[in-house]
Amino acid sequence: MFGPATRPRRLRRTAAIRAWVRETALAPSDLTYPLFVEPGRDTRTPIAAMPGQTRFTVDLLGTVVKELRTRGIESVLLFGLPAAKDAQGSESYAAAGIAQQAVRAVKDAEPAMAVITDVCLCSYTDHGHCGLVNARGDILNDATLAVLQRIAVSHADAGADAVAPSGMMDNMVSALRAALDERQRQDTAILSYAVKYASAFYGPFREAAAGAPRFGDRSTYQMDPANRREALKEAQLDLAQGADMIMVKPALAYLDVIREIRAQAPSAPLFAYNVSGEYAMLKAAAQQGWLDEQAAVLEILGSVKRAGADQIVTYHAADIAIAL
Ligand code: PBG
Repeated sequence: MFGPATRPRRLRRTAAIRAWVRETALAPSDLTYPLFVEPGRDTRTPIAAMPGQTRFTVDLLGTVVKELRTRGIESVLLFGLPAAKDAQGSESYAAAGIAQQAVRAVKDAEPAMAVITDVCLCSYTDHGHCGLVNARGDILNDATLAVLQRIAVSHADAGADAVAPSGMMDNMVSALRAALDERQRQDTAILSYAVKYASAFYGPFREAAAGAPRFGDRSTYQMDPANRREALKEAQLDLAQGADMIMVKPALAYLDVIREIRAQAPSAPLFAYNVSGEYAMLKAAAQQGWLDEQAAVLEILGSVKRAGADQIVTYHAADIAIAL
C-alpha cells in the first residue's frame, strides 16, 4: 500500500550510517595547489581578483611549501612571471629563469613535494599569446613546439616531476616526450592540458600571471565551449602521443566532459582544473555573506571528483585542506 520495501531514508538516519554509503571522499592529497612566482625578494603580492591568493618571490617558496605539506598538500603547480618579456618568450627556457629557480627552491625545501610546471608562452611573450606569432598575428604551431621542448627540458633539468603543456598546440605531447627522452628524462611525466576550453573563467588568472593576449583571443587554439565530442578526440590524441595524465579545464562548467572522458578512457589519470574565475566567483559570494564558503567549496570539489577526476588543481587547496 505504501510502495516498495526499499526505503533510501533508512541509510540517512545518522552521520555514521550515511558514511556507510558515501561514494566519494575528498582528501588533501587529491588537491594540487597553484603557485605564482614573481621576481624580487621577500615579497608577497596580493592578487586583487583572487581574494586570499598572492604571488610569491622565490625566497619565500620554501616556507610556503613546508606549510602546505603540514596541511597534507602533496603537489604544487608552478607558474613563473618573468622580469622581462619578448616576442619569443625567451625567458621561459632560461636555465636560471623564474620557473626553473622556483622548482629548485621547492625541491630544496621539501623534496617530497610533487612539482608540476606550466609549459606555455603566454606569461613570457610581449603579445601574451600561448604560441609564437607571425606578422599577421597567426599562431605558428610547429615553431612553437620547438620552444615548448626547450621549456620542458629546462623544467625537467631543474627537477620538475611533471611538465604540463597548457597552450593547446597540436602535437605538443609527442614533441615534449621526444625532447625529454632525448635528454634522458624518461622519468619526467607529461600532464597534458588535453581539453582546455576558451573560457571566460580565466579572467583573474590573467591578472595573476600577467598573460592576457594583447590582440585577438585564444579561440584558434583553445576549444569551443560548445563541444563535447571534440574533447574526446583531444584526449585520445594526447594519450596516443604518450601523455601520462590528462586535464580538463575549467572544471565546474565542464563536469559532463570530465564524466565522459572518465567513461571513455577509464585508465587515463585525469586532472581537472578548478580555475581562477570559479574561485573568484565563490569568494565574492562568500565575502557578501551569500554562501557558506567552506560548505560550498567542499560541495564543488566533491562534485568534480564524483564526475571522475582523480586530482583537482584548485586555489582553495591551501585553506580547505585544513577542513579535510
Ligand atoms: C596559460 C594558462 C591559463 C590558465 C592556466 N594556464 C590562462 C589562459 O589560457 O588564458 C588559467 C588558469 C586559471 O584561470 O586558473 N596557458
